[in-house]
Amino acid sequence: MKPSDTPKTYRVKSFGCQMNVYDGERMAELLDAKGIKPAAEGEDADLVVLNTCHIREKATEKVYSDIGRIEKAGREAGKKPMIAVAGCVAQAEGEEIMARAPAVGMVVGPQAYHRLGDMLDRAVKGERSTDTDMPEDAKFAALPKRRKVSPTAFLTVQEGCDKFCTYCVVPYTRGAEISRPYSDLVDEAAKLVDAGAREVTLLGQNVNAWSGEDDKGRLQGLDGLIRELAKLPDLKRIRYTTSHPNDMTEGLIAAHGEVDKLMPYLHLPVQSGSDRVLKAMNRSHTAESYLKVLDRVRAARPDIALSGDFIVGFPGETDAEFEETLSLIDAVGYAAAFSFKYSPRPGTPAATMDGQIAPEVMDERLQRLQAHLNRDQLAFNEASVGKTCDVLIERKGRKPGQWLGKSPWLQSVFFDSDLQIGDMVRAELVHAGPSSLQGRLLETVSA
Ligand code: SAH
Ligand code: SF4
Ligand code: F3S
Repeated sequence: MKPSDTPKTYRVKSFGCQMNVYDGERMAELLDAKGIKPAAEGEDADLVVLNTCHIREKATEKVYSDIGRIEKAGREAGKKPMIAVAGCVAQAEGEEIMARAPAVGMVVGPQAYHRLGDMLDRAVKGERSTDTDMPEDAKFAALPKRRKVSPTAFLTVQEGCDKFCTYCVVPYTRGAEISRPYSDLVDEAAKLVDAGAREVTLLGQNVNAWSGEDDKGRLQGLDGLIRELAKLPDLKRIRYTTSHPNDMTEGLIAAHGEVDKLMPYLHLPVQSGSDRVLKAMNRSHTAESYLKVLDRVRAARPDIALSGDFIVGFPGETDAEFEETLSLIDAVGYAAAFSFKYSPRPGTPAATMDGQIAPEVMDERLQRLQAHLNRDQLAFNEASVGKTCDVLIERKGRKPGQWLGKSPWLQSVFFDSDLQIGDMVRAELVHAGPSSLQGRLLETVSA
């Protein structure tokens, strides 16, 4: 690479899970601190950070085509934008990206991006660099202060995964499970609230496995952290995601019934309703043990909205086993869900298992599964009509004069009233659609 001018503008493009969104914000803050400005909407940036996801198929190809697109736009504008590849594809395929894409000057893994500033200095001198080390927790300590944030903020409390589900790349791309220290999290949450956050979503690949010592040296689980954060007066709502069924402790379940600020929503992936498939996936829970957890959560918080993740077409999945997943869905009645076709990931045990399922079979199963999930989501929304609840306004809607926020149950609620981002409003839910509701403004509770 030839030496180049220090970039004046940047853009961070995040793909994948919310932890990548959090990381993307932190990288943006780091670039801000170096005096580089975010590129305006529609404008080409001097530095593009592709913050990538490796969870499903075509992840790597997508990165190469994005790189090609950025280079082409640069050529047309007579510029040579700097490109950094970050995130989980960087971790998994960093060396290959460096070899195949000369336009990429920096490859930085999800645990190393606090070193992006130094890498950038080297890139300006014309040196390419790769950093995919996994130093425990170091990135958080080395990051700049939080900048102004939106009313809904993410806070990564836990990273990595030790569960090793046989289909999943996360344990390889994010490393071993670590919990960030309690006091760091209480501090960062307070700063986010000072910067304007009214809702904080605690993030982790296994967020409910978080544990740490409080300021008196007592060991706390996620519920202890939630109870502490609930004391922040201007923090109105707390959420957390994603949880593993085996880590739903008594304390966390009880918190759902006791902590008003903890929203009545639980995302608890199950993946399959067949015990044989769950075992092959190394999920370490059964359909029945999962349903028992949900019963306990519902006993603590009867109105809780439940959500899950599903994979269809795991190697060896029979028609009958797929039907068991449909039965589980029917038994739960999810308010929301994410469903995927199984995608073999290089290096994971399931990728080389016998009985890989044909694409047509997966398509058909996914369609049937989603029909059940869509039916239940609409039913959940319809059952909300007539309820009165608080809605936190997050953004303008697509239509002029329209505003959009979230109900406690994480439903999108639209208003045709004059509102502002950050308003907490009391509303009556008056009309339900498959993926949103119409609200009638009763009053503004706080702004
Ligand atoms: N830590 C979380 C999220 C993992 S990734 C959890 O354990 O639930 C999010 C979802 O992607 C998973 O829940 C799973 O449904 C899906 N997923 C992961 N690997 C996949 C693969 N190889 N093919 C298809 N879906 C996958
Ligand atoms: Fe992946 Fe399983 Fe860990 Fe979730 S629990 S991140 S699906 S290995
Ligand atoms: Fe994707 Fe990595 Fe998140 S693979 S889902 S960005 S942990």
